[in-house]
Parts: sequence; structure tokens; C-alpha cells
Amino acid sequence: MINDRYPVMQHIADNTHVDKAKYQALYQASVDDPDAFWGEQGKRIDWMTPYSKVKNVSFDPHNLHIRWYEDGTLNASANCLDRHLAERGDTVALIWESDDGDTVSQVTYRELHAKVCRFANVLKAQGIQKGDVVTIYMPMVVEAVVSMLACARIGAIHSVVFAGFSPDSIAGRIIDGKSKLVIVADEGLRGGRAIPLKGNVDEALANSDVTTVEKVIVFKRTGGDIDWVEGRDLWWHDLEAEAGSDCPAAEMNAEDPLFILYTSGSTGKPKGVLHTTGGYMVYASLTHEVVFDYKPGEVYWCTADIGWITGHSYLVYGPLANGATCLLHEGVPNWPGPSRLAEIVDRHQVAILYTAPTLIRALMAQGEEHFAKLDGKSLRILGTVGEPINPEAWRWYHQVIGKGRCPVVDTWWQTETGGIMIAPLPGAVDAKPGSATLPFFGVQPQLVDATGAPVAGEGNLVITDSWPGQMRTVYGDHERFIQTYFSTFPGNYFTGDGARQDEDGYFWITGRVDDVINVSGHRMGTAEIESALVAHHDVAEAAVVGYPHDIKGQGIYAYVTLNAGVEATEELRLALRQWVRKEIGALASPDLIQWAPSLPKTRSGKIMRRFLRKIAANECEALGDTTTLADPSVIDTLIQTRLNK
Ligand code: WT7
Repeated sequence: MINDRYPVMQHIADNTHVDKAKYQALYQASVDDPDAFWGEQGKRIDWMTPYSKVKNVSFDPHNLHIRWYEDGTLNASANCLDRHLAERGDTVALIWESDDGDTVSQVTYRELHAKVCRFANVLKAQGIQKGDVVTIYMPMVVEAVVSMLACARIGAIHSVVFAGFSPDSIAGRIIDGKSKLVIVADEGLRGGRAIPLKGNVDEALANSDVTTVEKVIVFKRTGGDIDWVEGRDLWWHDLEAEAGSDCPAAEMNAEDPLFILYTSGSTGKPKGVLHTTGGYMVYASLTHEVVFDYKPGEVYWCTADIGWITGHSYLVYGPLANGATCLLHEGVPNWPGPSRLAEIVDRHQVAILYTAPTLIRALMAQGEEHFAKLDGKSLRILGTVGEPINPEAWRWYHQVIGKGRCPVVDTWWQTETGGIMIAPLPGAVDAKPGSATLPFFGVQPQLVDATGAPVAGEGNLVITDSWPGQMRTVYGDHERFIQTYFSTFPGNYFTGDGARQDEDGYFWITGRVDDVINVSGHRMGTAEIESALVAHHDVAEAAVVGYPHDIKGQGIYAYVTLNAGVEATEELRLALRQWVRKEIGALASPDLIQWAPSLPKTRSGKIMRRFLRKIAANECEALGDTTTLADPSVIDTLIQTRLNK
């Protein structure tokens, strides 16, 4: 089964942007002469001043620099809006469907342009200038997209914080970005529940370390009760009513920052991944068109939240630069029941669906009968992202949702890469369930061993040369950028993932090789969860690992050592889960907490996570050599009281 192959479908190949021959020729050209290839591709974007230079990159950690199109100028919002007005101003840009499904509204490119210009003027009137950081903590409403594009229009840097993160997490991101303004809704709605977004921002701003925020703009979504700080808080609709609708797009250099997005690493606090304007726009728009084989007029639905990179690149910048019609769904695609996804697809005649394996597995677990009513004739391409997709889920997606007619594109990439890096182009590359297959144009993946030497078969996944969508720095900490990505395997970008390459050259991502776990397609640093746990007054020590979870991909397994004299009760277990939820957000809350009288350590005091991972995975037979442990008996105790049996 491992080499189960799904050949390119004829009806797709007959009418595709990139067929087999073209993929091979373009890929070869892209790596043989990146300057020529990307110089040509860069023309898909509207430039205010054309670039004369294309690529200026060195991955040498002592001389690291990454610049693309460095003397060109452009504006990202103009590329998503203004360029469409003459020919497709009346095309629908966004179709919005409310959480409860009762409200559907449509916004054309012309209307979106007007909204963005108006709101950009609002931001200017509040003193926001080029280079200022604006924090966006919004639910999935049209105004979230408007906020992002309005920042881009005036050259402000947006920092979107996922609306599921806690007040502490918001505060941390505001402090790191020295953000001057926050855009929020009164409440968000997800799966029938109201989420106190404004309340969370109030709590974040009450933190005495948050000193930079001057104004909070509040969009009224539900009309629920909220607190109000006179002089600081302002209603979106009041400001909008006073603002003019004419706002020229600021001329930005290709390497000016477009946004910051925080992501977890194996150590320390979340990193502010910085993306710049020119290369990112070229890469996001090209990958969107080619990987999803997007054709004008098609309805495209990406289920990701705008709080993640998928929402940035494939809900906002990529598709809007291509003039696509995007579905923006406020809620969750399996609420109020599993048939919601099918209803949305048929109602809006979705042609391209881009979602995550965790959702596919959750739907799969509910049973096929919920999809009996799915007509699904509008569907053409199915995409997945976020974590390795298990072959069963791949086939289910292909058969039950795609009725066997739609290619499945498994797209591997990262917040740091800005856009899709490895994926089967639907009209060019045969699929194999579970494999992200072959690299996108210009992407040169390589497997290396622990010493950095290239290996065949299986190894650490690095990328040997730059691509335009690559992140440029960790905001405010360039040294950390070099350390994290360019020092482990000098001369290469290190992804943090492991992979296998088969006899056809196909890549199979095996998962993270660092202390990062992937829960429902969301990336979490185990160190972050550990530091939240030890911040609790009853906890002496904690070690967090991932373990296989049927729906989430990985679940969070925490080993906790309590302070002397503290009783290990069920209440305390619940309290600790609640605590992490409050410190970071619901997605970081441990699924299992095992009380550990002590943790397995080497004589020098290093926690041996390898053993903890095995015990959490219920693989206790082949633990390997435990003789290097200071006290090997610790392991027996942990095995006996393990929770995942
Ligand atoms: C990590 C990046 C890129 C948008 C969503 C996640 C894992 C992502 C795949 C895939 C196997 C995948 C990797 C990667 N990952 N897509 N198709 N197959 N693994 O972005 O939060 O930056 O996480 O997600 O481990 O390193 P992110």
C-alpha cells in the first residue's frame, strides 16, 4: 500500500496551469537560474517601481542576508484590490457565512476596496504611520480581512493574534511588537459560543508591562456587554462614518515588513516571524494559482483561521492577489453537525477546498452517512495542510468528499516559509496518499544526517537555497533567527522537520525532530507549556511531550512533579489544565497529566525526553538504554502509572 499511486486525472491535466512536462521544465529552470525564473514570475505582481535586481541571498550564518526584488516598490493591498477594479470590480471577493449559517453576505472587489480605503484612513486618523505595529485580535468576519489590508495599505505592520489565545499571550505579543493600536471585536462566535474578545484584550492591557497601546478599535459583532475605557476605546463604525473613502496606497519597498506572525519554537517564548512585501506577494499568489490550479470565477474555501499563516497566505494575500472569490466562514465546519461542511460546499458551489487532516479525521469518525446528501459536483481540487495526513484519512477525503474525482494536494510548508513548499501540482504530479510529493518551483529540499551530510532515505529536512516567500528575520531578534534556522546545518535553512524520500524522489514528512508538537495542525512548543505548568504554585517540575492522538494527530502529555506536601488529586489535575488554558489558550491545555514523583534525568540533570515520549506513546517494550540515567528505577514507576494504555 505504501506505493499506492493516484495518477494525475485526465480531466484535470486537460485544462491546467502546469502539466507534467511544464512542471519538469519550469522546476529545472527555477533551480538552474533563479534570477531569470523569479525575475519573470515577479511580473505577476503590480510594481510601482519595477525591480532591476531579483535575488540577493546568502545563507552563510556569518553573512546572512535574504533580499528579493530589493529595488522594487509596490503595495500589497493595491495588489489585492486596486488592480482588479477595472476588469473585475464587480466580482465577489468574499462570501461570508455566519457561525449559525443564517446570514450570508457578499463583498465585491469594489466594495472591499472602499472598505479598506475607509478603514486605512481611520488608522491614519488615529496616528498610525508606516512601520507602526497594529495588533489584530478578530473573529472570522470581513472586517478582519479589512483590518489586515488597511494596515498593508498605509505600510503599517499587522500582527494578527489568533482569537483562541489567552490575555497573557496577547500581552506577550503586544509587548514584543511594541504595538500602538489593537483592533478587536466585542465578541466572537464559534460553534454557537460567544468568546469575550474585547474582555480578553482588556485583561491583556491591564498587564502593567503593556505600555505602548494608545487606542483600541472595537468592531461590534454581537452587541454583547463589554467594558469601556473612555479615551482609549473607540467604536469601529463611529470612526468609519467620519473617514473618507479615498486613500492612495503607500509605496513600499519590496523588503519593507508586511506582517509579523508569532509561532512556537522548541525553546523560549514564541517568535515573531517577519515577512516582507515583494517576495511574499509573488510567492503567495503564484503558489495559490498553481498548487490549487485556480481559475477565475471559481469559489475557493480555505477553512483556516486568519490567526495562522494559512489564513494570511491562502485566505487573504494569495487568493485576493489572484482576484479569487473566497469563502470566509465564521464558525467551525463540523458544527452544529458533521454535515455542515457538505452544506457549505453545495450552498456556495465551492470548487477548491483547503483544510486540515484533523478536521478530515473528525468528520471520518462521525460516519459517511453525513455526506450522503453532499452533491459536491462543484468540487474540483481538495487541499490539506498542517500535519502529515495518514493515508486512511487521505483516501476518505478523496472518496467521500471528492467522490473520487478530485485530486488531493497535500501541502507541506511552515509559518516561516510564507507559502507552500512541497505539494503535488494537481495537473502534473501523481499523488501518493501520505506524501507531500515534490518541491514547488525554486524549492530545493535536502535530507541530511546529524552532521549535516546529505543522506538518501531518511533524515533532517533542510532547504539549500532561498525562495521569495521566506521569512526575513525574527522581529527584534535577528540573532535568534540565525541561531534557530541557519546554525544547525550551516549554509542551509533548517525546517525542524524530519522526512523520508522514496525511490521516485517523493518526500514523506515524518514530523518534527525538535521539541515542537503539532496538535490539530497547531504548532506548540513543549517548553512553553512546561513553563506555564511550573508557574503554578503547586508544581515543582514538568515535562511535556506529544503522543499519538486519533483526531488531533498529536495530543499533549504532561508529566508533573508536585511540590512536597501537595496532594495529587483529580481537582488539581483539572485545575492545572485550566491553568494552562488561562496562561496560553485552550489549544495548549494538556490532554493527559501524569503525576511523576520524579523525572528521568541523566547524571548531569538533563531530562531524557526520549523515554517520556515512548511511555506516553505506550511503547514501553523497546525503551532502549536506560543505564545513563541517574536513577533508572524512575522509569519503572512512570511505566506502571502511565495514562495512555
Ligand atoms: C509545521 C509547520 C503551514 C501552515 C500550517 C502549519 C507541519 C505542515 C504539513 C504537511 C506534514 C506538515 C510540519 C511543519 N506540517 N504541513 N502537509 N505534512 N507536516 O504551519 O504552524 O508553522 O507548522 O507543520 O511539522 O514544520 P506551522
